[in-house]
Formats: sequence, structure tokens, C-alpha cells
Amino acid sequence: MALSRKLFQHRSSVSVFGARSMSWWRSVEPAPKDPILGVTEAFLADPSPEKINVGVGAYRDDKGKPVVLECVREAERRIAGNLNMEYLPMGGSVNMVEETLKLAYGENSELIKDKRIAAVQALSGTGACRLFADFQKRFCPDSQIYIPVPTWANHHNIWRDAHVPQKTFHYYHPQSKGLDFAGLVDDIKNAPNGSFFLLHACAHNPTGVDPSEEQWKEISKKIKEKGHFPFFDMAYQGFASGDPERDAKAIRIFLEDGHLLGIAQSYAKNMGLYGQRVGCLSVLCEDEKQAVAVKSQLQMLARPMYSNPPVHGALIVSTILGDPDLKKLWLKEVKGMADRIIGMRTALRENLEKLGSPLSWEHITNQIGMFCYSGMTPEQVDRLTNEFHIYMTRNGRISMAGVTTGNVGYLANAVHEVTKSA
Ligand SMILES: Cc1ncc(COP(=O)(O)O)c(C=O)c1O
Repeated sequence: MALSRKLFQHRSSVSVFGARSMSWWRSVEPAPKDPILGVTEAFLADPSPEKINVGVGAYRDDKGKPVVLECVREAERRIAGNLNMEYLPMGGSVNMVEETLKLAYGENSELIKDKRIAAVQALSGTGACRLFADFQKRFCPDSQIYIPVPTWANHHNIWRDAHVPQKTFHYYHPQSKGLDFAGLVDDIKNAPNGSFFLLHACAHNPTGVDPSEEQWKEISKKIKEKGHFPFFDMAYQGFASGDPERDAKAIRIFLEDGHLLGIAQSYAKNMGLYGQRVGCLSVLCEDEKQAVAVKSQLQMLARPMYSNPPVHGALIVSTILGDPDLKKLWLKEVKGMADRIIGMRTALRENLEKLGSPLSWEHITNQIGMFCYSGMTPEQVDRLTNEFHIYMTRNGRISMAGVTTGNVGYLANAVHEVTKSA
């Protein structure tokens, strides 16, 4: 009797478990496609020999091919077979972080010397933003984040998944295709004191519109007056002007004004280390004691997510930046990438003007960095794709990194065709 009851209990628990396990994920619907990765998929499926992908934000050479920098190749040669593959500490590579801070805060920064910066290696720029968003939620649980309109779409996902409420601030002015400076300053003034503001340090994605130095000074002043916290996403240092020092100007202005701030840095674009996932999150603190505490809490957030960051990309970066000759080569190569993009901006604009376009294309050369926010409508983009095999996001963003001497004429002609009667 006792045995049969036991058997019954066993059987029923199995059948309950079996039924449950079959229904666990029945309510799960497919996630919406990522708008950028969806563009790449459609591009790959198109058999046309004329097709162009100006959707993805990854650098291509003038033949349209992905690039591995010479300094990276040399660093890999030096690393190969020479180092073990032990875990990095929770905060990542100390050498890589040290070199990375110099790029953002300045080679001879007193803040670095005074150990006022809490910094950890992060999983590229995305990981740095996410770690900060989680940190913000944990230690300022009632805060919000102000995000520019528009912004890199993943910013919304990152702060959403960290459960930080989002507000927006004016940034792009559709008529002028430039900065909505008045709107931006108003939003800074009207936000509750002590709000968090997400700023793109340079080469704003997707618009390619950056504030001027004078405008940054004013923005810094207004943010300071309101006691807001500026968080800089710097995914393109060196990619805007070709000079990483110049591209750090906005941050340096804020530092001069005495802000406490946070920075997400990435080596995806400026070292071409996209898939290596190497970056850094730093938080400038009041003093060394606070920085030690903040760093320990950032590590505490990383530990249950991924324990410690990957080693190979960090070794590449620290090898390059730790060697004066390799660093010089890197600076030359970053400039080469930025210059090629700037050259393609001029070529695209000139081609459109030569075709007699009735529209102004001045913004192509006024905007900076990897992207040109063309002003084309979603319907015009659809025509580019359907009639000309040109792939890009429907917001009209052209990745200038995908434009080459070989395809710029074809691209200009297609853009002219879909916009001439607008
Ligand atoms: C504005 C901005 N932030 C962050 C990133 C993050 O890039 P990654 O995580 O590859 O470093 C990107 C990449 O496109 C970006 O455009």
C-alpha cells in the first residue's frame, strides 16, 4: 500500500513535470528583428552584383572589404605564443584600462595621477553602457536617463533592460539637418536638478551632428548649473576628426569645468576590434577612496554577469598603446580611416551636385564620423533598396564607411533618382 502510494506520487510528479516542460515557452513570440542586423540579412540574400550595404556601422576599405589594422596584426604577432590565457581580474586588464583612461582624460591627467577614476574593462561600448546603467539603477534607484533624439537605438534597450526610466532631449533639427541647440539647452534647463544626461562624445550616431566647441562649453555650463550627471558614450574616438585628442575635446571641456562624469569607451571602430569586445567604463569620483568603492561595486555587478572580461582584445590594445611605435602606427591608421570617410562625403556631395540635384547636400560634408543622416524618407529608402539594391536603415542613415570610389557614383545617382521630385 505504502509502496503503491509512493509509486503514484512519483508518477504524478513526472506527468506534471512533463506537461509543464512542454508548455514552458509556448507564450514566447519571436522577438522583433534588430533594424540594423535585418538590413545586413536582406543585403546578403540579394544576388544583384550592384548591391551596396550602407547600413552597418563597420569600416570598409576602398574596395569595400573589412580591415584589420597593421598595428593590430603586429600586436597579434607579438602576443602569439608568448602569454598564458589565465583569467583576467574582475576589473579586466590593468594596463589596458590605464592606457584607455589616458585617451579619454589626457596623457598627463591629474585625475589619473590622483586615482580619482573608478575604471573597469568592459565588453566593448555596449557592455560599458550597460554596466553603467545597472550601476545607476543600483545606487540611484529613483533616477532617470535623458537620451538624445535620435540616438543609437541600442541606448534605449540598454537603459530599458537596466530598468532605468527614460526621458528624451532635443538634439537633431530636421529642417537644418544640424543641431537643435536651443531645444537641447532648454531641455537641460527644464530637467529636474541632478538628472542623468547621455551624451555622444563625438561622431553622433545616427546623425553625424556634433556640437561645436563653443556649444559644448555652453552645454557643460548649463549641465553644471543644474547639477546633472553627464555620461559620455565615446564609441568613435579618432573616427570623427582623425585625431583621438581632438575627438576627446567635449570631455576635456567638461573636465575643465569640474564635472563628475562617466565615460563608455570602445575599441570596436577606432582599432577595428569589433568582435573582440574590448572597451572600458570609467566613473570620475570625488577622491581616491570613493573611486575604490565605486570600482569594487562595478566589479560586483560584472561578477554574476560574466565574471571577468575576455583577455585577447585587451592584450592587443595594451600592446599597441604601450609601445610608442605601435601607437604612432595606430594614430596614422585611424587618421587614414577618418580621412577616407571624409573624402567619400565630399565625393558623394559633389556627385549629387553634378547630377543637378535641386536639393542642398551641404549637410553631407557638415556632418562628421561614420554616418550621414541624409534626410531621406523611409519611402525613399525603400525605393533605393527595391530599385537600386542599396541597403540602409529606413531612417535615411548612410554608413559612409560602406561608400567607396567604386560605388559612390552609383549611390549618388540612385539617391538623386529617388529624391529629385521631393
Ligand atoms: C553610439 C554608439 N555607442 C556604442 C556603440 C557600441 O559599440 P560596441 O559595443 O561594438 O563597442 C555603438 C556601435 O555602433 C555606437 O554607435
